[in-house]
Amino acid sequence: MNKKIAVLSGDGIGPEVMNEAIRVLQKIGQKYNHKFELQEALIGGASIDQYGEPLTAEALKICEESDSILFGSVGGPKWDNLPREKRPEVGALLPLRKHFNLFANIRPSGVVKMLRDSSPLKNEIIGEGFSYTIVRELTGGIYFGEKGGDEQNEAWDKMAYSRSEIERIARVAFELARSSRGKLTNVDKANVLKTSVLWRKVVKEIHANEFSDIELDHLYIDNATMQILTRPHDFDVILTGNMFGDILSDESAQISGSIGMMASASLNDKNFGLFEPMGGSAPDIAGQGIANPIAQIRCVAMMLEVSFGLKEEAEAIENAIKKTLDDGIMTGDIWIDGAQKVGTKAITDAIIERI
Ligand code: NAD
Ligand code: IPM
Ligand code: MN
Repeated sequence: MNKKIAVLSGDGIGPEVMNEAIRVLQKIGQKYNHKFELQEALIGGASIDQYGEPLTAEALKICEESDSILFGSVGGPKWDNLPREKRPEVGALLPLRKHFNLFANIRPSGVVKMLRDSSPLKNEIIGEGFSYTIVRELTGGIYFGEKGGDEQNEAWDKMAYSRSEIERIARVAFELARSSRGKLTNVDKANVLKTSVLWRKVVKEIHANEFSDIELDHLYIDNATMQILTRPHDFDVILTGNMFGDILSDESAQISGSIGMMASASLNDKNFGLFEPMGGSAPDIAGQGIANPIAQIRCVAMMLEVSFGLKEEAEAIENAIKKTLDDGIMTGDIWIDGAQKVGTKAITDAIIERI
């Protein structure tokens, strides 16, 4: 197979973990005889520093001409005082999601047995481990609604959802539940928000008309944050909007061991994807060689499977990650007593060896 991949490393730990993910990709290329052509571009703060803007036309062109996009992370204190629209997050990542219509953000969570002690949850709650997937709407809601005010005395962000936006993300989530354990939990705030009243109504309709074989329940977002902590095993697919999905994913990341483990796929209706870790540029640990590269490496695995249909290759990466952790090789964020604490490069070496 011959594929073109846009590589946008970004800021903070972005380039550090992306380097390692690319080494894993190259190993897969060698082992399975694929050619991956990489096109790199600066993005976010790095692009602001070089070109004065977070997303250049050239970077966008590279993405358009690629079969898939590997994204690192953007943002950091250096650019935090820029006007909102010029910041790396709002000026680069959100426009990329919007430009490619990446409305479906798939965020798998879960803790495997060997990371039980990395999770803050009690062992008896974790049991043998749990897994669920958050399906987060990514191009609508309060992130993209009309904004106004002066950020001095008054400011507002409009939260809006249309029926068609809800229908398409609901279908993605129901389909995923069908190929998983057959259960969907819808999370909203339908006791207060008008958008959530519509959201829940549409989800119920799609369920009744197209997916009545799926078990469906509903939780308000505040309750959902609690229920996930006490009964994570009860969740299979969680469907939610943009803002609630953002918050639930960091909670899910923490109980899964660390945000440094968590990858996500942002997809459009043609299955074109941008693959991004759930976490950010981690300015507090950037440049120290200690960031966990597994989130970024898992982005590679997700890309191989989802964009290119390379299931065996993706599994080879996931298995190598599991073996590495099983062998007690861990970065600081997931480190447990008795394990060997290693840095970004050494854990990647261990993963590559096991591929
Ligand atoms: P963050 O996810 O960057 O960091 C939160 C905590 O998790 C920190 O303690 C960090 O050290 C730790 N962490 C994150 N990734 C890790 C990894 N791979 N290995 C080990 N530890 C890891 O969130 P934040 O501090 O709120 O945000 C920092 C910057 O990143 C901000 O500018 C924010 O806007 C941006 N951000 C970008 C993205 C993205 O580009 N996709 C996502 C989230 C946050
Ligand atoms: C994420 C991040 C982004 C989001 C930011 C950086 C725009 O937090 O991917 O979870 O809120 O979607
Ligand atoms: Mn987030």
